[in-house]
Amino acid sequence: MGRVVKRVGACLAAALVVAGLMAWPPEGEYSSVDLQLTVPEKEKLLALTFDDGPHPEHTAVLLDALAQRGVKATFFLVGCQVELAPELVERMAAEGHQIGIHTLDHVQVNGLSQRDFERQVEGLRRVLYPLVGERELWLRPPYGIMDDNTLRWADSPVVLWSVDPEDWKDTDVRRIVRHITDRVRDGDIVLLHDIYPSSVEAALQVVDCLQEQGWQFVTVEQLLHLKGRAGENGRVYRAVR
Ligand code: NI
Repeated sequence: MGRVVKRVGACLAAALVVAGLMAWPPEGEYSSVDLQLTVPEKEKLLALTFDDGPHPEHTAVLLDALAQRGVKATFFLVGCQVELAPELVERMAAEGHQIGIHTLDHVQVNGLSQRDFERQVEGLRRVLYPLVGERELWLRPPYGIMDDNTLRWADSPVVLWSVDPEDWKDTDVRRIVRHITDRVRDGDIVLLHDIYPSSVEAALQVVDCLQEQGWQFVTVEQLLHLKGRAGENGRVYRAVR
């Protein structure tokens, strides 16, 4: 059913293009009209998020596999990694994934001076704009550690998570998959790292397992939208119920 509905969305979008109202293919994100049409089931929504990338090899594999499965995800990027694979960042944007900030140097942001904070956060935004266009780039502070100033200075919503399989701890794909599939509830935000092949493999197994059960994978921004919420600057989101 999802596929038929999706086609209706594409047709509507194509009609709008003909009418000169929007560009096709849509750059980066879907219009709210398209979103409502593509995601009729609103009770089994999940946002997969990937930190610390992009990784030149593993993120490329992940993007290929997400595209095959029609899955949108959210990537919180690190500056030094972006330098290694800028083309993957462009690809993420072109394929409708959400891109966010995980600081220039993967530093803890609590206790930073405003100047250092802006170097880490705004600095990475300025690196990314030429690749993905000027758009909102939400913040995930490394380690999920922050303070009041983080919220004051973020200039975006702050995204944490509600499911954390600690995928950096080992390479046990089955453990990571089970941790996630045993716990997920509608509106969860799942934390993973696309710099590990085991995490990429686990993410894909989770998608294959849960899609069969009717779960749908969306970006954090889409998740908020579908739950009728707006992302507010300086507000922390761990899950969206
Ligand atoms: Ni990190």
